[in-house]
Amino acid sequence: MNSPHQAAVLTIDGPGGAGKGTISRLIAERLGWHLLDSGALYRLTAHAAAKHGVMLDDEPALARLAETLDVTFLAEDGTTRIMLEGEDVGTAIRTEAAGERASQVAALPAVRQALLARQRDFRQAPGLVADGRDMGTVVFPDAPLKIFLTASAEERARRRFLQLQEAGESASLSSLLKEIQARDARDMQRAVAPLKPADDAVELDTTELTIPDVVDHIQRLLADQGFIPSA
Ligand code: DC
Repeated sequence: MNSPHQAAVLTIDGPGGAGKGTISRLIAERLGWHLLDSGALYRLTAHAAAKHGVMLDDEPALARLAETLDVTFLAEDGTTRIMLEGEDVGTAIRTEAAGERASQVAALPAVRQALLARQRDFRQAPGLVADGRDMGTVVFPDAPLKIFLTASAEERARRRFLQLQEAGESASLSSLLKEIQARDARDMQRAVAPLKPADDAVELDTTELTIPDVVDHIQRLLADQGFIPSA
């Protein structure tokens, strides 16, 4: 269980598009816990690399960048502004191309190592919801509750398509599906911290579930384990 010196952590891992971001934010809001969007750190590292002219295969230079990232997460009415070196990069790091570059950077062991301490620093009272790929396996292996969210690749492509449409961006469903499958393959096959459920994770397939369904389900699990009062 939880050490008395350590704040509680709920880890939410899974592939891109399974709903982790929205669900992690809603749960953190409901509980009044901190939120770690670990994917943003990989996206920010890739963004900083482009800004400073560092090539995406220069592992030592990327690790130095990751370790010294000047980033601030500002929580503002249900959203988070992400500032890199004082510049709001929230929109720039969310594009498909930025996700692709983040996935390349995330495959480098020295970059993952450089981001480890920064991620663990988010663990503060009253608790943390940690969203990523290796939160339950590597970053917080002692987390008392671990969730692994999945959804079919087709459903994840459809959700991404709707998101892009809403944002007024053009997209093709079939190319989104191909990109998602390629990113899944890279994230699952990399040598360090591959995307996989922790042995003690609860797996939840969200293909047929709504966001409120998933949030309620996770809240029930938290209540069953005594982290929050039963509803
Ligand atoms: O969750 P996201 O789409 O923002 O993540 C961007 C990329 O970063 C994704 O391709 C995989 C990688 N990532 C990772 O390797 N480990 C994490 N804990 C979070 C993200």
